[in-house]
Amino acid sequence: MKFIIGVSGGIAIYKVVDLVRKFKKRGDEVRVVMTKAATKFVTPELFREISLEPVMTDVFGNDETAAHIKWTKWCDAMIIAPATANVIGKLSSGIADEALTTVAIAMTKPLIVVPAMNEAMYNSAAVTANLSTLKTRGVKIIDPSKGELACGGEGVGRLPESEEIVKQVDKILSQKKTLFGKKIIVTAGGTREPIDPVRYIGNRSSGKMGHAIAKAAADRGAQVVLVTTSNLTPPENVRVINVESAEQMRYIVNAEFEMSDAVIMSAAVADYRVAEPATQKIKKNSDTLTLELVKNPDILFELGQKKNHQILIGFAAETQTVEENAIAKLKKKNLDMIVANDVTAKGAGFAVDTNIVTLITSKGLNSYPQMQKSEVAEIILNELEKFLTNDKN
Ligand code: PMT
Repeated sequence: MKFIIGVSGGIAIYKVVDLVRKFKKRGDEVRVVMTKAATKFVTPELFREISLEPVMTDVFGNDETAAHIKWTKWCDAMIIAPATANVIGKLSSGIADEALTTVAIAMTKPLIVVPAMNEAMYNSAAVTANLSTLKTRGVKIIDPSKGELACGGEGVGRLPESEEIVKQVDKILSQKKTLFGKKIIVTAGGTREPIDPVRYIGNRSSGKMGHAIAKAAADRGAQVVLVTTSNLTPPENVRVINVESAEQMRYIVNAEFEMSDAVIMSAAVADYRVAEPATQKIKKNSDTLTLELVKNPDILFELGQKKNHQILIGFAAETQTVEENAIAKLKKKNLDMIVANDVTAKGAGFAVDTNIVTLITSKGLNSYPQMQKSEVAEIILNELEKFLTNDKN
């Protein structure tokens, strides 16, 4: 493997010298990029001697032009260790003011950040928020360990030992990161269309299918935006946007759409909403109550009209003539693929952990037996990856 190790200015830098040696010893190639602060702790010459590769400390004055881009093309992954609060803050804000942050922002391959700092800094609201932003972008974080800190006392914030970093890096890179650099919007759950401030029209969707897809996509390294109505605990490493109604879901999906590579709409979006929801709780003064319903916008149809490079995957929740109806939706909504499920079949559809699906594209269809929703998510993403590979944009 070829690694770029980004070294920022923390006392734990001495462990990174050993980390570089460990990678070299087992045959990996390593190039080091250092912040100015890091060069106050150790000299670039030390890393040059042990890596037998050039060390970058500045974007200017390197032997090659646009070295930062060439380095990112050369490597398989970048590890930033130790990552100080300052560097983490810059990465999260997209600041590229030094060689290390400039290389990091240009990375299209796995980026692994290993924070090391004083415990109070590590637990601060700013560092916590910045790390969580990085996670939602698909950056992998190796948590610091607990023990004696350089500033005195004990706590969380120590750079893990080099053997542990190597182990964790190997684990992270052994997972399939086939969707790294791709932004995927996933919708989940049933929309809730208000009747009054207390009541709504809803449906049986739990969000399990959509959350499974979001998790699987994040595990493959995608930057996932999960637009959900569900109360399920959201998967790690996804950006969650909670919505209720179809109108809200439409607004968010549209706002995220242009910069996305794919949209997977597993949400059960209500086709109709109450024309004028009451502003106060409706009293039971009469024996009957009539609600006027108006048609909701069809989010997926609208996306199908305006898509340019995005891959669109819809679901079809059917109760009869499943494939026929699903094919009609695939065509009408201008989708790349539709996932048909008979929501009346046992072990399929709403609120269960399994599903029975048929994946339909313009090329044909593939029916699958009952499987876990997590497995359904994998087969959907396998197909999505094929579309993305053929995508010339
Ligand atoms: O959430 P779970 O409990 O795990 O259940 C999973 C599921 C049964 C909800 C899921 O597998 C499923 O079938 N989702 C699609 C539900 C649905 O709304 O199907 P539809 O055939 O009515 O719509 C077709 C497609 O258009 C869907 O992708 C839907 O998200 C989209 N749509 C529908 C209506 C609308 N106004 N706007 C839309 O974008």
